[in-house]
Amino acid sequence: MVTITFYGHACFGITDGKTALLTDPYLSGNAMAAASADEVDADYILVTHGHGDHVGDTPAIAERTGAKIITPVEIGSALFAGFSCLSCNLGGTLRLPFGSVKLIPAIHGSGVPGALACGFVITIGGKKICHLGDTALTKDFELLAEEKIDVLLTPIGDVYTMGPDDAARAAGMIRPGLVIPMHYGTFPALVQDPEPFVEACKEQQIPARVLNPGEAIHID
Ligand code: NI
Ligand code: MN
Repeated sequence: MVTITFYGHACFGITDGKTALLTDPYLSGNAMAAASADEVDADYILVTHGHGDHVGDTPAIAERTGAKIITPVEIGSALFAGFSCLSCNLGGTLRLPFGSVKLIPAIHGSGVPGALACGFVITIGGKKICHLGDTALTKDFELLAEEKIDVLLTPIGDVYTMGPDDAARAAGMIRPGLVIPMHYGTFPALVQDPEPFVEACKEQQIPARVLNPGEAIHID
């Protein structure tokens, strides 16, 4: 069984009960965050790109937990010098004791010159979870259908990433077992009602579920 906990914005805890993964831990300074940096668990911290709302508390959490950081190599060098970063970049798959993490392209600035932003396809507990990071709509998402994603975590906030309409089109290309919206409601610019997105997914026979910060789901 895999448990996915939404902490707010693009931050999720993902665990098989043995290994704890944490994505984009923007907690301090996020009024919507459901946990603080000193209470989240992490063996690995996955950082999609170098913008502040994704790097967040990564250094403090890595310092406290000893978690290894998974992020494109240029972002690791620029922002996490002195921490334990697993060297990797887009297109590559890290095979790890719990499963694997593949870095996939994201259409978005990385915040670090020379670096690219990414998303992640994570295999843990026999499940495939895809975190798209911050991205625009791209037809490349059709390739992800072949990955048979169990749970898709997609931005819907618009302005900096896909909005609800494009995110629903992305879900239609990727065809996951379940889609969970993220990266909305955190700032005034990102106010969104997630319900039209949920409806647009359901019209395509894709189950969608809104998680409020602090909520968790179990995937059997
Ligand atoms: Ni960003
Ligand atoms: Mn962002």
